Amino acid sequence: MKVLHDRGLAPYHTFGIDVTAKQIVEAENIDDFIHIWHDSNFNNMSKLVVGHGSNLLFCEAYEGVVILNRIKGITLTETSSSFCLHVGGGEDWHQLVRWCVERNIGGLENLALIPGCVGSSPIQNIGAYGVELKDVCQYVDVLDVITQEIKRYDAASCQFGYRDSIFKHQLKDGHIIVAVGFCLPKIWQPKITYVPLNQFDLATVTLQQVFDAVCEIRQAKLPDPAVIGNAGSFFKNPIISKKVLKKLVIDYPAIPSYGVDEQHVKLAAGWLIDQCGLKGYQIGGAKVHPQQALVLTNIGTATAQDVIQLARYVVDSVATKFDIALEHEVRFMAANVETHLAEIQA
Ligand code: FAD
Ligand code: EPU
Repeated sequence: MKVLHDRGLAPYHTFGIDVTAKQIVEAENIDDFIHIWHDSNFNNMSKLVVGHGSNLLFCEAYEGVVILNRIKGITLTETSSSFCLHVGGGEDWHQLVRWCVERNIGGLENLALIPGCVGSSPIQNIGAYGVELKDVCQYVDVLDVITQEIKRYDAASCQFGYRDSIFKHQLKDGHIIVAVGFCLPKIWQPKITYVPLNQFDLATVTLQQVFDAVCEIRQAKLPDPAVIGNAGSFFKNPIISKKVLKKLVIDYPAIPSYGVDEQHVKLAAGWLIDQCGLKGYQIGGAKVHPQQALVLTNIGTATAQDVIQLARYVVDSVATKFDIALEHEVRFMAANVETHLAEIQA
């Protein structure tokens, strides 16, 4: 286990906000995690497992120990019909996608360039361009730090939903994702219904083409966290009833909506924020991204307070104009525990 002596968190989360943690350690294997939970040095400290910090906002200095998940390893086995991957939770997600594309193993390419670790990917059931983790995940291996046992959850037990899973609820505390298993059919089925991937011909498109196209679209739309601090979509796309949509369409006939089930549709939060005229809106060093209103950015000098105030302004603006409550996708961390925008005093 590596104990890091510089306790600045800026390099360990993509918003790049200048905050500290009491301790930062790297866990390279399961024993490291067990050790941290049972070592008297860390006994009375809060503990936060972090992958690449690409879905996190540290609202203030963290009073506990941040544990960077660095469990590595990719094992490939085959059945007659599928490629089976067992991947350490600390592997980089995009490098895994690239590794698969290089070996002509299809299935993950629509999820290219999503920042973060493999071990974090089931938590919010990462999704992009018509594919979600649930479509490719076979199992998730979870360490219970109290019993020190590792339990395997098959995909059906993970309760995957839109940006949701059991790992945000029953298995949120004291449970660490140490590995993820994938089952990828050898007969590749391209998923190209999502605009603009639908420009490809299903009969001739290649895995490399889909991978390249997804990377290109994302690079054009989303700010690179290495250049501009951000955590991707700051808010979830709201799911509303068709009844509510019917009323909204009267005033906003162009409102984009996507079918979810018989009764519900998903709205585009980016469109709602954009319609409030907030692209480029700035509070202190925090700014609504001028090309994608769903992304809040750190122009280099943002404090957590700047981001929180901007997020609140966006939520209030959308509520006033559309009577829709935006929920943040980004996980907010207070000094010791997770918090939410609504719980933070204005
Ligand atoms: P972190 O931010 O480090 O952690 C997220 C949460 O999970 C924290 O609460 C943390 O404590 C917990 N956690 C992390 N690892 C573990 C573990 N091993 N065990 C238990 N708990 C753990 N998301 C999408 O779904 N689709 C996208 O298209 C997308 N695009 C993005 C684009 C950009 C530019 C950015 C910055 C983010 C984007 N995201 C997207 C969000 C983010 O990439 C995902 O949520 C990603 O899975 C987070 O991984 P991470 O390792 O950085 O997690
Ligand atoms: N839109 C605007 N103005 C904006 C932004 C978007 O009008 O400023 C409109 C677009 O024109 C489009 C619609 O809103 O009609 C949806 O936009 P986009 O296709 O860019 O997708 P999104 O809903 O903003 C979601 C995910 C992304 C994922 C993409 C691609 C959520 C919260 N976000 O974004 O995930 O990469 O679709 O599948 O579901 C993330 O979770 O961090 C993330 C980046």
